[in-house]
Amino acid sequence: MRRHDLGRTGIEVPALAMGAASLGSIYHPVSQDEADATVATALECDLNYFDVAPYYGLTTAETALGKALKGFARQSYTLATKIGRYGDQDWDFSADATKRSIEASLGRLGTDHIDVIQCHDIEYGDLAQLRNEALPTLRKLKEEGVVRFIGVTGYRLDVVEKIAVEEQVDTVMAYCTYTLQDRRLAPVAERLAAAGIGVLNASPLGMGLLTTRGAPSWHPGNERVFELVAAAARLCTLAGTDISELAMRFALTTGHEHGIATTVVGTANAHNVRENARWADSEPDATLLKQVEAILAPVMDAGWDVLPGNGGKAGG
Ligand SMILES: NC(=O)c1ccc[n+]([C@@H]2O[C@H](COP(=O)([O-])OP(=O)(O)OC[C@H]3O[C@@H](n4cnc5c(N)ncnc54)[C@H](OP(=O)(O)O)[C@@H]3O)[C@@H](O)[C@H]2O)c1
Repeated sequence: MRRHDLGRTGIEVPALAMGAASLGSIYHPVSQDEADATVATALECDLNYFDVAPYYGLTTAETALGKALKGFARQSYTLATKIGRYGDQDWDFSADATKRSIEASLGRLGTDHIDVIQCHDIEYGDLAQLRNEALPTLRKLKEEGVVRFIGVTGYRLDVVEKIAVEEQVDTVMAYCTYTLQDRRLAPVAERLAAAGIGVLNASPLGMGLLTTRGAPSWHPGNERVFELVAAAARLCTLAGTDISELAMRFALTTGHEHGIATTVVGTANAHNVRENARWADSEPDATLLKQVEAILAPVMDAGWDVLPGNGGKAGG
């Protein structure tokens, strides 16, 4: 597995990282045995960066990840979690909530420190509170060694970039914006990387959109996007492949040239972990990619902020 510098943190991240939201059963029910097998397989494949949040499965993803990591040496993996989002419509960037959240995450994850702590989906929270309470609290915890690096995450790239640069955070996680269907993160990632900020591209499968199973019922995307992606998925099946394979190969082999340090995919399936790792280093089929891009052209870069969908969980 290729590894890249995560900005100026000194952490070398695998080109493919593991998103543990899935372990909170947000896409399909997941048992602890499945979570254990997924995490063990990820570590076997050198995918030793795990991203999670209290919000995922309302703390169940952190609990499952903590149990699955038990027994593996703490220094053998990098752990990233979040503060600030606690429900579909529940943000709190106060100092008290930040401290309480980190204490609870440490307990669920069975560790005494968090490598990367991120303020979650900042554009929907109170940005003044984020600047005046959450970030200063995290900086203090950084001095105390409880957290090693501080980041922000979100969907609105303009908000995320502005706060990241002004507050000089260490990392930025964006999601669903560097995929087969949406490339808007590319120029933003180039600027952030040039500023020394580590960029994580989450959801290369567009939160399940770019799979043969299709987007989950809570997905905030637009019907027109779903229709055209389904047509592209059928074309991939006819070509003897799977749209997920094309999507993963695309994100993984082209992301780094735009400053993306790692791509964070979510799965709760050990077989899919192996497939994703296998696809990490090989180019997508150029002819098929062109055909799929032609199908998706009418909705290229059309996220749910451009073509509103049903609101979904990830919306404001
Ligand atoms: N605001 C934020 O900070 C934010 C937002 C979104 C995501 N994230 C992070 O990014 C991570 C990844 O995002 P995500 O999980 O929401 O979306 P994603 O990675 O785009 O898609 C996950 C879906 O793809 C399926 N999948 C994965 N590998 C597959 C394969 N090889 N073949 C077929 N299907 C496959 C998974 O199902 P199976 O379980 O069946 O494999 C799951 O349904 C999250 O876990 C989270 O850590 C952060």
